[in-house]
Amino acid sequence: MSKILVTGGKRLVGEVNIVGAKNAALGILPATLLCKGECVLENVPDISDMRHYETMLRKLGANVTKSADGTMTVDTKDVTPDAISEIEEESRMMRASYYMIGTLLGLFKDVRLPLPGGCDIGARPIDQHIKGFKALGATVDLKEGYIHAYADKLVGSRVYFDVVSVGATINVMLGAVLAEGTTTLENVAKEPHVVDVANFLNKAGAKIVGAGTDVIKITGVKRLNPVSYCVVADQITTGTYMVAAAATNGDVTIRNIIPEHLDSISAKLREMGAEVIEDYDSLRVIGHTPLLPTKLKTLPYPGFPTDLQQPMGVLMCVAKGQSAITETIFENRFKYVDELVKMGASVIVAGNTAVFNGVDKLTGCPIRATDLRAGAAMIIAALMAEGTSEITGVEFIDRGYDNIVNDLKNLGADIERIDS
Ligand code: UD1
Repeated sequence: MSKILVTGGKRLVGEVNIVGAKNAALGILPATLLCKGECVLENVPDISDMRHYETMLRKLGANVTKSADGTMTVDTKDVTPDAISEIEEESRMMRASYYMIGTLLGLFKDVRLPLPGGCDIGARPIDQHIKGFKALGATVDLKEGYIHAYADKLVGSRVYFDVVSVGATINVMLGAVLAEGTTTLENVAKEPHVVDVANFLNKAGAKIVGAGTDVIKITGVKRLNPVSYCVVADQITTGTYMVAAAATNGDVTIRNIIPEHLDSISAKLREMGAEVIEDYDSLRVIGHTPLLPTKLKTLPYPGFPTDLQQPMGVLMCVAKGQSAITETIFENRFKYVDELVKMGASVIVAGNTAVFNGVDKLTGCPIRATDLRAGAAMIIAALMAEGTSEITGVEFIDRGYDNIVNDLKNLGADIERIDS
């Protein structure tokens, strides 16, 4: 079991480069299956979810190579439907395996896989994905933990999503790019990773317009071509380092990013007293004490991302006064609060709201990452705390952060990973 040891109290100072977005890469990797031939992907994060995807692609017959600089080539010319049943194990391990369903349905018109796994942060249904597949003409059976989607052919249609869902938007887009005719997706997610997957598909020859707005239109094409593509910078990793800078009274410049993707986080950090200075492709965050209290509500983009409420909760623990977070996306995302309370925080959770009464300091102790973003929150809490913290549940952090321990060490943190 791996653990991360952090002794708090060090200011983070310096520069950090951000790699490609997990949530974009997880949509683009399966999309390479739609482009018969060799795609070259740059800026691919080295995280465990990507490794599961690589394994799935290889098992399906793709030739995948990776280099240390984050470039990945995926040659899908020999992929056939014969090996779909061999990727069941990986499908169960991760939430984003649902993209295999849309992609393989679009490609082979028949796919049967286990329902996806992933972090336990709420019910996480896939009814909107299924609604979209059915609208395209597929029959979808759910039986004994499996989803079986099949069709003679897929035909473009109109889909109104009842909830704004990143996964459903990307998945139905993946299913629709090779369908006959035009698909209109309404009430879609507008996250930067949704736009990035659409950009990849368009570069490969798809006809998608409207990504980044509430309505996406997809005119089906007969085939996609292999392309080279650079994955967009990770909005959530960027936000995590922004919060870490503010938490440690630091001065950190975060490079290779799109500052506009961070507008909601920059706004909240400014409200809490930090300085955020934007440049063309970087952000500098300068922390100031004391931190001021604030309120935030998680919402689909461009609202405040649910993936960053846990790191923000850590800041609220020591802000001077009362702060609150209302979580509107996932009902089970306050499990991390119990760990903060162990460190001396004063937090009360009632329904989907957590109220933080600021304390003078957090104190290091053994703490556990309860999911991926809670893991990031634990690291930030430990950086801020007095004394040493031992963080377990590192496998969750590995799902989404490429090199977080080294990045923070380079910024001056007293942090070490121990793998046993
Ligand atoms: C994606 C991200 C995750 C992020 C989340 C919200 C990936 C791989 N993961 O997760 O990091 O926290 O977006 O930004 O990109 N819902 C339904 N029915 C559905 C689908 C979703 O009711 O069919 C609900 C969910 O329960 C949730 C909300 O819609 O309440 C948003 O979920 P969604 O955007 O789909 O999240 P994921 O795609 O799972």
